[in-house]
Amino acid sequence: MSSFLPPPPRHSDTPLLDEHAGPSTRSVHAGVGRPERFDAIPVPIVETATYTFRDSAEVAAHMTGAHPDPKREEYGRYGNPTVRALEERIAALEDPSGQAECAAFGSGMSALTTAMLALLKTGSHVILFRDGYRRTRQFVAKTLAAYSVEHTIVEPGDLAGVAAAITPKTRLIVGESPTNPYLHCTDLRALGELARKARVKTIVDTTFATPINLRALPLGIDLVVHSATKYLAGHHDVLAGALVGNPALVGLARDLRGVVGGVLDPHGAFLVARGLKTLALRVERANATAMKVAARLAEHPRVSHVFYPGLPMHPTHAVAVEQMRGFGGVVSFRVKTEPEAEGDRSSLAVTSRVVDAFRLARIAPSLGGVDTLVEQPAIMSYYELSTEERRAAGIEDDLVRLAIGIEDESDVIADVMRALEAP
Ligand SMILES: Cc1ncc(COP(=O)(O)O)c(C=O)c1O
Repeated sequence: MSSFLPPPPRHSDTPLLDEHAGPSTRSVHAGVGRPERFDAIPVPIVETATYTFRDSAEVAAHMTGAHPDPKREEYGRYGNPTVRALEERIAALEDPSGQAECAAFGSGMSALTTAMLALLKTGSHVILFRDGYRRTRQFVAKTLAAYSVEHTIVEPGDLAGVAAAITPKTRLIVGESPTNPYLHCTDLRALGELARKARVKTIVDTTFATPINLRALPLGIDLVVHSATKYLAGHHDVLAGALVGNPALVGLARDLRGVVGGVLDPHGAFLVARGLKTLALRVERANATAMKVAARLAEHPRVSHVFYPGLPMHPTHAVAVEQMRGFGGVVSFRVKTEPEAEGDRSSLAVTSRVVDAFRLARIAPSLGGVDTLVEQPAIMSYYELSTEERRAAGIEDDLVRLAIGIEDESDVIADVMRALEAP
């Protein structure tokens, strides 16, 4: 029998997933691409910049949409089979009903900025929250402002403020839940409803939650964005982004991606798809350890505040309980210091010594990977600001952010307790 004949149908051609399949099953089995071509279990890395056509008739069929294979690729900036398989997997995680689409990008910022550029035009108005990711706010306040896109910034979770800020020019509300570094959770069902009534689109960045802990699309949000660099990929080894949701809106961003070019490369897509297979396991472990760490921090004499949405003392605990299935792996806390002290005893210096005393957790920005990371936001993302400017931005010098990984819980707790003994 010729090996060039198409293979007969076999059991693996039967769809494995229905809408009842759970998130772990989806992370492993959704978006398998076209394994029949290679008999491989992982999606192969199709490392190519362009795709060849048999003849001019095939080119014509592809260009006119008459090609029998709708997934036939043309050029790397428009599509890649490894990337498409990843996109299917992420879409299946965010929306088990199978209606959502996903476009992958070379970074989370590329996903966010391309989506905003696709949905806005000169004269549009955007609403965002004061505690949104700093670069997202910067993009709106500086880059989009240069193209006469206007914006209003409202207080974290202030839905009355959002309603009051909507004008006839408002096209988009950009939210985030939970936020960095205070883990504020916004009532997304209420936000979605409010926006729908006003005919305004919503994008919510749920990087800190992941689809394991929170699915914003079924709550009525139009588009979800992820820095896939974080939990989705999960190993601190690749930058990637994902935009998921309403197919027409994702389609606009996908088309613009083909113009502005923020594509994810096939090897990066492979790494994210591989990371996704253990997403549920990793997130469940991080949720459990973070909950324990937060509880220990809450009773520690050297800690003045703990921020973790799983703790009843967190200001948005009730919202988190209502819409999340787990509270995530990021815990922030403030070290008790003498606010007026200077030099070696200043809040900044004392807190730096605590951060330096971690042995297991490594000092780095980012979160969501298997390795626990720790940072003092005042000297990481806000280094160039004075203490007063940082305070105005809501960042205290004594703040520490812990992004918990998958190490053994007892080792992570021992590391935190050891760090808090720093002089
Ligand atoms: C909440 C959030 N959104 C977006 C981004 C940007 O993602 P990336 O670094 O993948 O561009 C980050 C990165 O830290 C983030 O924390």
